[in-house]
Amino acid sequence: MSTSVEMTFSIEVYESAAELSSEDQGLLKKASIVLKDAYAPYSKFNVGTALLLKNGEIVIGNNQENVAYPSGLCAERVALFAAGAQYPDVPVIAIAIMAKSDSVSIDEPLAPCGACRQVMCETENRYGQKIKVLLKGDADKIYVINSVSDILPLSFTPDKLAVK
Ligand code: THU
Repeated sequence: MSTSVEMTFSIEVYESAAELSSEDQGLLKKASIVLKDAYAPYSKFNVGTALLLKNGEIVIGNNQENVAYPSGLCAERVALFAAGAQYPDVPVIAIAIMAKSDSVSIDEPLAPCGACRQVMCETENRYGQKIKVLLKGDADKIYVINSVSDILPLSFTPDKLAVK
């Protein structure tokens, strides 16, 4: 006979950025600026990301599309891989993600795709440091999640591999 296991997670919902710390407000502001530089001629869906590193540096990313669609990359991974390349020894402590589109309204804060959650999860495991996730769409409402592992339950983590 099977048993059922319930897995839950909680997010903090803020009515506006004014309720956040100035550091978090600054990170969201940066994401809103850099999404304008996304290269998204195919989807016309611009995403901007700003990472806060433990040394205080901010690393940005935006989505980079390609006519061969799978060759493009989401904003989150552009930023996370850039941070890994530029600051390999520095943990990421927060990520702000924002999106803007001329053709659709983004009513809910943008939830990152599964592949980006996997890469964020890898970054948490790599440094043993939880990453705070800040999400915002067109409305003022903001979601704050305290760890990527909350939004990627049952994740594939390094301990699953027998590599020493
Ligand atoms: N996109 C991101 O950059 N991040 C996400 O979390 C979701 C989707 C991009 C990929 C593509 O360039 C466009 O948004 C439409 O999917």
